Amino acid sequence: MKPVSLIQFLIEERRAGHINAELSLLIEVVARACKRISVATNKGALGGVLGMAAGEGDAASINVQGEAQKKLDVISNEILLEANAWGGHLAACASEEMEDPQPIPDMYPKGNHLLLFDPLDGSSNIDVNISVGTIFSVLRCPDGVTEPKAEHFLQAGTEQLAAGYVVYGPATVMVLTFGHGTHEFTLDREVGSFVLSRRDIRIPEATGEFAINMSNQRHWEAPMQRYVGELLAGKDGPRGRDFNMRWVASMVADVHRIITRGGVFFYPLDAKIKAKGGKLRLMYEANPMAFIVEQAGGAATTGRERILGVQPNGLHQRVPVFLGSREEVERATHYHREAD
Ligand code: AHG
Repeated sequence: MKPVSLIQFLIEERRAGHINAELSLLIEVVARACKRISVATNKGALGGVLGMAAGEGDAASINVQGEAQKKLDVISNEILLEANAWGGHLAACASEEMEDPQPIPDMYPKGNHLLLFDPLDGSSNIDVNISVGTIFSVLRCPDGVTEPKAEHFLQAGTEQLAAGYVVYGPATVMVLTFGHGTHEFTLDREVGSFVLSRRDIRIPEATGEFAINMSNQRHWEAPMQRYVGELLAGKDGPRGRDFNMRWVASMVADVHRIITRGGVFFYPLDAKIKAKGGKLRLMYEANPMAFIVEQAGGAATTGRERILGVQPNGLHQRVPVFLGSREEVERATHYHREAD
């Protein structure tokens, strides 16, 4: 079969009435920016952008060319900001790396969309050459708002028009949804374009694999202790079968495994992070991933409620995250609801 490029796919989605021209062009700009981030991450130490190269304390470190070096997460943030400000499809954007939304400079045309992104998720993994990624979410700018503020971004996940992530691993892969299925594109490095590699991805409803940071076990709430305890008991326990465990500590990589072969991912509430509400950010991580996973037939909850139904109260709000194969997300969520 003839390969379908991301651009062709976006044209098909426009013809199907799933997206308008502006959203299609916006996704092209995001994809182009992610290709640049992919190049930067692939250079590794040779790019002089690894964490160890960045300045300690006040002094920025200087590379052999005498230039100030920046960490890859800062560079990724700048790449996405610049590309999208210039693109002309946005009313404003917000980044996990910045306290407040970024307005579009007056010199550029403005559009009707709001873009949120985590420019380099799992960035603590970059120095050890483990997959990292970019996560993004697109919302509509409320009618009549010309200078969007944080409050205009505070829309429930159900309002997302698009969500995606790009994982910079052995291959660079983008996973995208517009609410009509979840699709995967692989970057053809020789041609320089994303090519459709899986259409309408389905996450199996049942799984024997879970992902969680077990070092937090003693801090979890009782229902989480119960749920994971049953998985660990294996075939001699109440579940009557063995479960396998994986934890990359890069959400994009852990979610991509689930999108590919099923599984379930948890970042539950624990005593250490309770005051913050969770570890992962609702607007930059939980909502886009929940949209992608639901569109692939999986489920996503906070352990108590559907993530996409949460009404946000802050741009950097954190929530517990349970997502992946439906049966396990529902069981773990049921244990929490039962205990409340
Ligand atoms: P960061 O971008 O600060 O490295 O955080 C990564 C996130 C997410 O990608 C991952 O699933 C989780 O934090 C890992 O948390 P732990 O280090 O607590 O395991």
